Amino acid sequence: MSSSRLERMREAVGSLYDRNRQRGTAEWCDREYDFVCPSMGTYPFQWFWDSCFHAVALSHLDPERARAEVRSLLANAQPDGFVAHVTFWQRERYEDMLATYSIAYRTPYLSDCIQPPVLAEAVQAAARGEGGAAFLADVLPAARRYFDWLDRVRDPDRDGLIAILQPDESGLDHAPKYDAYLGISVLAPEQFTAAWERVAGPYAEVGRDPARMFGLDLFVVEDVLVNTIYAENERVLADLLDGAGDPRGADEMRRRARRTATALVDKCYDREAGLFFDLAGAEEEMLRTNSISSLMPLVLPELPGPLAASLIAHLEDPREYAAPFPVPSVAMSAPSFSAGPVGKLVWRGPAWMNTNWYLCRGLRRHGRADLAAAIEDRSARLVEEHGFREYYDPLTGAGAGAHDFSWTGIVVDMLARREGEA
Ligand code: GLC
Repeated sequence: MSSSRLERMREAVGSLYDRNRQRGTAEWCDREYDFVCPSMGTYPFQWFWDSCFHAVALSHLDPERARAEVRSLLANAQPDGFVAHVTFWQRERYEDMLATYSIAYRTPYLSDCIQPPVLAEAVQAAARGEGGAAFLADVLPAARRYFDWLDRVRDPDRDGLIAILQPDESGLDHAPKYDAYLGISVLAPEQFTAAWERVAGPYAEVGRDPARMFGLDLFVVEDVLVNTIYAENERVLADLLDGAGDPRGADEMRRRARRTATALVDKCYDREAGLFFDLAGAEEEMLRTNSISSLMPLVLPELPGPLAASLIAHLEDPREYAAPFPVPSVAMSAPSFSAGPVGKLVWRGPAWMNTNWYLCRGLRRHGRADLAAAIEDRSARLVEEHGFREYYDPLTGAGAGAHDFSWTGIVVDMLARREGEA
């Protein structure tokens, strides 16, 4: 790979992040903000896991902006530790867009949901280089409180796996793995809205108290993608705490990371399929859809060799995941797979850059740098040929969904890693 390819990508991501930058002062909390929104056309606010990916990409362009991104994300962390999945910094400016969102609010400016906890990775990336220590000292306490909140509030059965209370919390909004559990029989947006209302109403009646929402058992999923990212970030947070001179905090985080990883292997791996599946409801019923989530535990360094080999075999199978433009978000052999967009429904087959980014890391950890390099190369080609789109058709490479979609810029981290820069 030539470094001019990385240079060109760096420039392209830099100009994308200038176009999607949101800066100002919010009167509602009397704070300044500076972040990259996912897309000016559809998502002008600050989304949690998007922002974490943006911070990773920004760490290659402008460390100060990476730190501003994380600071803006944590600026409205709540006293209990919670961090909203959307911060509506400039709500008034985009009021019309809000009418189309199905979202629960903690305040008019903060959603009352979570997203996959990529936070420790974002903090780690933003802390690289000069000035990193001061930044860490500033943000680590809030990051630690967030992970304590997840452990205390989102793992009611204390098995080490956190649970989500509605599909959007996984970041995989309309993924087909939830269809049957949600009672979706036709792919109509109204069915998804109705499914949302079936939980949103009763949740509001119990005052959105997490313990009581879990008690209702309407949508409780121990999601494999969410928990793989949780384990990874508990481990990264442990390293950060170590570096900050808190060995006890680090030990505790490492213990939790091991517990999460062990629970994933013990409870979510289906030997017959050779895949991981989410657990739904108090009965922890497996949701057996072969999707990108099923492969995510490849990221776990401690994943036993035979399990890693099984996931890699699925990834290399041309009937399932070895598409011309990898990696499809649903196995191509699954009945629910769709290569192109399904109206406004997302995560039903097209390839996304953030899951490619994680899978490549997992492949390297399990001895398949060759396959990682091939996926990274294809990922970069998608962007070079079709621009920064929200997702891509795995058969043709055609881009779809939002234009100028920011987390697709994470591709700059993939190329930089291959050059041994990061
Ligand atoms: C879509 C995605 C979600 C993302 C959001 C903003 O809802 O499914 O993961 O955070 O858009 O980009």
